Amino acid sequence: MLGKGGGAASGGKARIAVLVSGGGTNLQALIDAQDKGIIKSGEIVLVISNKAGAYALERAAKAGIKAETVLRKEAGTQEAFEERLHELLSENRIDLIVMAGFMSILSGSFTARYPDRIINIHPSLIPSFCGKGFYGLHVHEAALEYGVKVTGATVHFVNEIPDGGRIIKQKAVEILDCDTPEVLQKRVMEKAEWIILPEATEEICEEIVRGK
Ligand code: GRF
Repeated sequence: MLGKGGGAASGGKARIAVLVSGGGTNLQALIDAQDKGIIKSGEIVLVISNKAGAYALERAAKAGIKAETVLRKEAGTQEAFEERLHELLSENRIDLIVMAGFMSILSGSFTARYPDRIINIHPSLIPSFCGKGFYGLHVHEAALEYGVKVTGATVHFVNEIPDGGRIIKQKAVEILDCDTPEVLQKRVMEKAEWIILPEATEEICEEIVRGK
């Protein structure tokens, strides 16, 4: 069960839930890493999407992973939406929540329930190009507009501040003169996101299993 030092993880693998909203290439990287044994201390047992029909749901189905859709609009309020998420996470005895392209900001009262048990991937080197409004292509547009020569990706813990939790892992990626936001986004995914998200997930799962 979530929380430091115990629960479902004891003696076995940490139970992972992946939160998604879109294409799910980061989810795929996690599934592939599990198949290759890069993630060996945890198991993805649940995928939750906040968008109906997200392609990530198909990826989950193909990998035989249970998937659920929870819509903010259907829930009515942010509180009810988060309560439904919490119910699903509890029912499935989740130890670690991995936000992989999850396009919804969770409230401080939600994140406070899971200290050091929610991680997120952000497509820049935090503290650059992060926080409110910096999502998707906007992050890469901002990096190109500023003219930085190096960008990258960051995996961090999630707290009440958007992209503000403690940094777990970062990887730098070079920017080329001819880059468009789309080309840069793809390079950051391939050379950073899809590598450090599985690595960080394994590291945290390992700690959970050891009961840290
Ligand atoms: C990624 O760039 C991730 O860093 C950001 O949203 C994007 C999601 O892509 N938070 P995908 O759904 O994993 O393909």
